[in-house]
Amino acid sequence: MIYENKTTRVVVIGTGFVGSSYAFSLTNQNITDELVLIDLSKEKAEGDAMDLNHGIPFGSPMKIWAGDYSDCKDADIVVITAGANQKPGETRLDLIEKNAKIFKGIVGAVMDNGFNGIFIVATNPVDILSYATWKFSGLPMERVIGSGTILDTARFRFLLGQYLDIDPRNVHGYIMGEHGDTELPVWSQTRIGVELIDHYIEKYKPDAKNSDLNDIFINVRDAAYHIIERKGATHYAIAMGLKRLTKAILRNESSILTVSTLLRGEYGLDDLYIGVPAIVNKDGVSQVVEINLNAEEEQKLRHSADVLKKAMEPLSK
Ligand code: 2OP
Repeated sequence: MIYENKTTRVVVIGTGFVGSSYAFSLTNQNITDELVLIDLSKEKAEGDAMDLNHGIPFGSPMKIWAGDYSDCKDADIVVITAGANQKPGETRLDLIEKNAKIFKGIVGAVMDNGFNGIFIVATNPVDILSYATWKFSGLPMERVIGSGTILDTARFRFLLGQYLDIDPRNVHGYIMGEHGDTELPVWSQTRIGVELIDHYIEKYKPDAKNSDLNDIFINVRDAAYHIIERKGATHYAIAMGLKRLTKAILRNESSILTVSTLLRGEYGLDDLYIGVPAIVNKDGVSQVVEINLNAEEEQKLRHSADVLKKAMEPLSK
């Protein structure tokens, strides 16, 4: 797929908090020519399209409308944000059965209308629903991408940057594994600029405490719970993450992002979608990047994969 000299189209399915925030973030940057909004409530999608269109004179020219599944035929990317979200106290994995059913209908309808582009999945549990989308769609794995730990990695970079008083864009590190309670920080490869974090701290932040670093990770892992307790949903940061992913695809950026993708032997894991660094460009996920993990990180990643596989079992029945 080549996007130069072509009208680009993104379809968003589900215009709840995440879908509408994502749509808004796209209107602020010149990323796609067309944006189609689909929701169970046509009225909601229409209202969002009207509201977003009225902002176009302040942003960049693009066409936005409330559409239907037939609009997926010419779409380059279909982003699915539809489904139930966590209530206070619920885990992401608690949503599996409800959302897998919804996905079967949605992915079927998209494919029945001749879609041949790239799916981005954001609904939770995102790793499992990305796997389900890959299976339901029959598309090559490269073209079904889950938002994975893209947001957790951003939270990690932000909080670590705040603690060390460093621009988060100069904090390089990954959260890998399930987008959920078993995710892990890859401390052994985390860098500030090009310096490994341990060396950086020794030189410039000798007062930093290991317990503070551990708290930072706990706050990353539990961030969604803290936000949901306060306002019922998380949506702005994931919307920006989805926009970042969209841009990497439509601009063929070959960006390394921690997305949920199918592993086939990488990291010793097979036949599951899980968050790992991967190169994202016009082809979708063009390459899984296998970084060196220490023994503890490897063990945590394996545990995360085991939990995901176990949670998927009821779906194969
Ligand atoms: C988040 O991490 C709930 O998965 C969503 O914000």
